[in-house]
Amino acid sequence: MASQLDAKHLIGLLLGAEEDWPRAFEQLLARLGPIRTADGVSHDVTVERLTIEPFDLRQDVHPDLVIDRLAYWYYHPREWLKKAALVNGTYLLNSPFTFQSMEKHSAYCAMLRLGLKVPETVLVPYKHPVDNARWAYTAAKYNQPFDLDAIAEKLGYPLYMKPFDGGGWRGVSRVRNRDELHRAYDDSGEMLMHLQESIEGYDVFARSLTVGAETMVMNFRPELPMHDRYAVSHDFLTPETGSEVLAISRLINAFFRWEFNSCEVLVRGTEVHPIDYANACPDIAVTSLHYYFPWAISALLKWSLFCTITGRRPRLDLETANYFEIADSDRSYSEKLTDYAALAEKYFQTDRYQDFCASALPNLDDVVRDWVASPDFDALLVDTVRATYPQAEHDRFLAHFRGLLRLWEKDNAGLG
Ligand SMILES: Nc1ncnc2c1ncn2[C@@H]1O[C@H](COP(=O)(O)OP(=O)(O)O)[C@@H](O)[C@H]1O
Ligand SMILES: [Mg+2]
Repeated sequence: MASQLDAKHLIGLLLGAEEDWPRAFEQLLARLGPIRTADGVSHDVTVERLTIEPFDLRQDVHPDLVIDRLAYWYYHPREWLKKAALVNGTYLLNSPFTFQSMEKHSAYCAMLRLGLKVPETVLVPYKHPVDNARWAYTAAKYNQPFDLDAIAEKLGYPLYMKPFDGGGWRGVSRVRNRDELHRAYDDSGEMLMHLQESIEGYDVFARSLTVGAETMVMNFRPELPMHDRYAVSHDFLTPETGSEVLAISRLINAFFRWEFNSCEVLVRGTEVHPIDYANACPDIAVTSLHYYFPWAISALLKWSLFCTITGRRPRLDLETANYFEIADSDRSYSEKLTDYAALAEKYFQTDRYQDFCASALPNLDDVVRDWVASPDFDALLVDTVRATYPQAEHDRFLAHFRGLLRLWEKDNAGLG
């Protein structure tokens, strides 16, 4: 094919301590080879791990798209990403401009405004003084005394106290009575806390992982150890509730322009209560996702390729008015969800994404299947297990994960 029809693209990875999924991503991309789009162009896509170094604000950014796993705690790469977004128009998963609001609090507020069933939630002021010279004067003059017990009584016990910007269960307490309430608040120190009504006796904890236009809703068991939290189960929600959970995930992700995110809902009877909806750096370790890992890597690969190859532009304007127009109408809850879904699918260009996958990546499912069955994948699993668990547990965990991945292979044989 004539070389003028060839296009080159670069995907950058900003990584912390993870090795498993980046290696998976690199291996799959190499196995996939050049990608031919319907217009006859052959696309050569490479991936590179980015390093951290001084940068000139006017300097070019080479990757077309960056998958970021660092900026939520490491500010130098975060500032580099902001520059890439503003100066260079680089496509970012996720953009710091969206995850500045990527905490529970913003998500709760948006979901309330959109009419979703967020449990009753109250934000209380800091327990300890904020480290700022102006604190004493400001607090003395303007901080209102408040009755913590009265707030808790109104929410009812048990309740949850958790940081407004939480993640990874940091600072989360289940509070059963007054004593526990005061202890938890005293311990909160400089964390800003929500008190939240508990959804007691829920039937299902559903955790959804979204990568661009794809979402997987999984049955999550938070009380179990990490490697057992995701159950391999397919019909754990009724079709109606399953589509409601899916619609809520996609709505919130589209609303905030979060394209790589995990969300949690508690389902009690037919009611779906969202509790945790903002995670800029969702856990996709093979040791957590096991059976769902091939799906997650495929989705990440497909969405990255879709964005780079079709030249999808980052869109940071939230266009909240479009959503609020639906929220403010007299439509029913389920009519609203349907109308939100249309906005979400428009944002994610779901039809275009599916056409792209069908025409430009027809062999991707086969590539993923061959790779999961290959020695490369097994070596990745062995290395990850060795790096994650104490030696005495290696055999047990390897057998556990190999078994789950064999199950994935069996369930996915001959599809696509
Ligand atoms: N309102 C609630 N009702 C019942 N359980 C809750 C509620 N809020 C939190 N939890 C429990 O606490 C865990 C941690 O809370 P979550 O909001 O998910 O914080 P994090 O961001 O740290 O994961 C949840 O996985 C769930 O098991
Ligand atoms: Mg959570």
